[in-house]
Amino acid sequence: MMRRFPSFFAGLTAAVFFAVQPSSVLYGQGASAPALFAFDRATGSSALPNGVVVRDGDASEEITALRDDVLRVRVARGKAMPEDASWAVLAEARRSSVAVTQDVTSEHFGFRTKMLRVEIEKKTLRLTIRDIAGNVLQQDALPVHFDGAAFRVSKAMPLDEHYFGLGDKTGPLDRRDQAFSLWNTDSYRFQESTDPIYKAIPFFMTYKAGVALGVLLDNTWRTSFDFGRELPDVYSFGAVDGPLNYYVMYGPAPKQVVEDYAWLTGKPPMPPMWTLGFQQSRYTYTPESRVLEVAQRFRTDRIPADAIYLDIGFQDRNRPFSVDRKLFPDFAGMVAHLKEENFHVVAITDLHIAKAQGEGYQPYDSGMAGDHFVKSADGSVYSGRVWPGPSVFPDFTQQQTRVWWGTLYRDFQHIGIDGFWNDMNEPSVFSSPTKTMPLDVVHRIDEPGFAKRTATHAEIHDVYGMENSRATFDGLLALEPDTRPFVLTRATYAGGQRYAATWTGDNSSTWNHLRMTTPMLENLGLSGFSYAGADVGGYAGTPTPELLTKWLEVAAFQPIDRDHSELGTGDQEPWVGGAEQEGIRRRFIEERYRLMPYLYTLAEETSRTGMPMVRPLFLEFPDAAPDRHPLDVDMASSAEFLLGRNLLIAPSPWPEQLDDYFAELPSREWYDYWTGKRVEASSGPVNLAQPESLLMKRTVAVKLHPELATLPVFVRGGAILPVEPLVQSTNERPQGPLTLRVYRGGEGDDCAGSLYLDDGKTYAFRKGDFLRMQFSCSTEGDGLWLHVSAHEGSFPAWWSEIRVEAYGWGAPQGRVLVNGREAAGGAATALPEGFSVTFADDGKGEDVQLR
Ligand code: GLC
Repeated sequence: MMRRFPSFFAGLTAAVFFAVQPSSVLYGQGASAPALFAFDRATGSSALPNGVVVRDGDASEEITALRDDVLRVRVARGKAMPEDASWAVLAEARRSSVAVTQDVTSEHFGFRTKMLRVEIEKKTLRLTIRDIAGNVLQQDALPVHFDGAAFRVSKAMPLDEHYFGLGDKTGPLDRRDQAFSLWNTDSYRFQESTDPIYKAIPFFMTYKAGVALGVLLDNTWRTSFDFGRELPDVYSFGAVDGPLNYYVMYGPAPKQVVEDYAWLTGKPPMPPMWTLGFQQSRYTYTPESRVLEVAQRFRTDRIPADAIYLDIGFQDRNRPFSVDRKLFPDFAGMVAHLKEENFHVVAITDLHIAKAQGEGYQPYDSGMAGDHFVKSADGSVYSGRVWPGPSVFPDFTQQQTRVWWGTLYRDFQHIGIDGFWNDMNEPSVFSSPTKTMPLDVVHRIDEPGFAKRTATHAEIHDVYGMENSRATFDGLLALEPDTRPFVLTRATYAGGQRYAATWTGDNSSTWNHLRMTTPMLENLGLSGFSYAGADVGGYAGTPTPELLTKWLEVAAFQPIDRDHSELGTGDQEPWVGGAEQEGIRRRFIEERYRLMPYLYTLAEETSRTGMPMVRPLFLEFPDAAPDRHPLDVDMASSAEFLLGRNLLIAPSPWPEQLDDYFAELPSREWYDYWTGKRVEASSGPVNLAQPESLLMKRTVAVKLHPELATLPVFVRGGAILPVEPLVQSTNERPQGPLTLRVYRGGEGDDCAGSLYLDDGKTYAFRKGDFLRMQFSCSTEGDGLWLHVSAHEGSFPAWWSEIRVEAYGWGAPQGRVLVNGREAAGGAATALPEGFSVTFADDGKGEDVQLR
């Protein structure tokens, strides 16, 4: 029987409480249904060196501190805690612990770390987490409750709190007032309201007046998250089964939460540099001559590109790891030829293996021989229909199956295929009414850190795609330990960023999908997946020339820039639609290549700290608004995004419309990226809800006129942007100087930049074969002092000269001094909005004085 709710819940009526109950509460499950249970009556507690345990009969809640700012909360209904194993959270993080100070009063159990206070109210078992000054960061709104194996945790939802994360779930950036299911689903032609979609990343960030907190519910069963949809003042999360186990990460800065989450679940590995170049794909380029023709056209038309994709049509009857020899008579020769043209080939290798008994299909034969496929409840190998027809499915939760899977890549890797695409790994099953395997399919867990056991598909479903990409990543590394693998996965789980990049699945060629892309990528980035993109131009349908142009413009500033389209749609390569469109698109792709030093430096930052490349404004500028609300939720900023800290991209929030619009820039000093001109605030309000006077001039509103050929991009005052001469692929060595664009900041702005470089392919950087530089500047009078650090690391620079372009200073009147001596070139050259000067860079560092 459900117990009565204690007084702290009295504010919520019974009717409201029942609204968040699973339907079984309301309708009953029959006599065999286990009883409901609310964790709300203390029967005991014990102190732990790193936390506290409180009990309610047999049930217990254990709260421990992994660090002073990271807590773990586990609630078990029975006597023992469930197995302490995780696909997502790194063992080092789970084992980490700090000593706490017990804090028990007549009202509460609890403890303190150096940063947090944890209180469990004795009367109700309500959990409250506070900062050290006593401010409430998170508080239970209802008792943790169970309904059989299912559970739900409910937290108070303040009016001014915002919610981000959950991977690439659709809809606005802020998850407030929405509810989501996490159950990896093949969602062809998903729309703004489609849920669930491809990924299950049970991590979100709460953000209130500049204070951020992260929550990871590490549970691989079907989970759900509700941010005030059922109850206006409660957010909640739960699962249908499995452990009640969540982590709370404290900022207060949102960037700190991102770093905490990376500490828990890992960082993306350093990507190969070519994956930051332009990538061309389609379902499906055949025959061989067409692949070569498309690649050749990039070179003839001088549109830079680095990768071409082979979708399922290159395979024999859609069978993974095979090649259709009729369509591709000289497959290895084609790959070799593309390599000579500086193209990297990415091949699709879906996880479903054709059930081709006695046909000499090696992946099936070796998989059967090794007992590597999942089984139905009756013990027979499970089969379902996917692209190849009847197919079987590897048991990726067994280490030895992942090792076997990795060996399947040997031949492709040997002939020089550089990237692999793991699609359909939700897993998608066409022949099933649920679009996936039955829940009672049996997986085997045979894995270091886990008890050896079987598990149903209901438990494994949401980690299946991640373990598929892990098998691919690890397998490629085993085959070529010194080459950075590139794996692109569609389905994944928390922690999947350790193995693969991702894309947002089968979107559509519509203006609304272009608009939706930005919040999807921002939330993916906050959820660990920095390295992501959407199908540029849209997957389903054929874009109008204007839509394709605008999409290519925006995607030039996003981490993965991959044009991809469905079978049967019109051509969608950058030259489609005529010379004028092609000219615009080329300019944007070229600009991406000029920015490669900046992009690659950002990728290195991601791999070191977990910080995403594409960022919402509040991540870098949490104090932009006086009330510290995230600017991103304002209409004027809703389509904007940051690429790193320094570039702000401001497409129209209504991309298909011709109307002028306002962009809101999150600090005072910004420059037009294209011209170097300092941005003057436009007169007039940003929008009615947020008149400029209210923002106390912490931000700049700028009025923009949408044009097909342009995309507003702004650079933060105080930035030093490294850019390189144009190349046609990242394999080419840039010819000419490294350019540093220096933008004068306002008071309080730093003036700094950095650059990271290495061979872009191997792990030699781990042994010191990289090049790192720091830049800083200061203003004296109207003069500019620029400091260029010595080169750190052994990787040689491709330049011998640095060209500085300075914006925001008057042209220097006198001499240019480099390390105290007059620069060889003498004076500075005037640019329309600044000036430039070039000097030799011998790697030992330069102090440049311009006055
Ligand atoms: C799935 C993928 C799509 C791919 C197609 C054929 O729909 O999401 O990108 O082109 O399968 O492999």
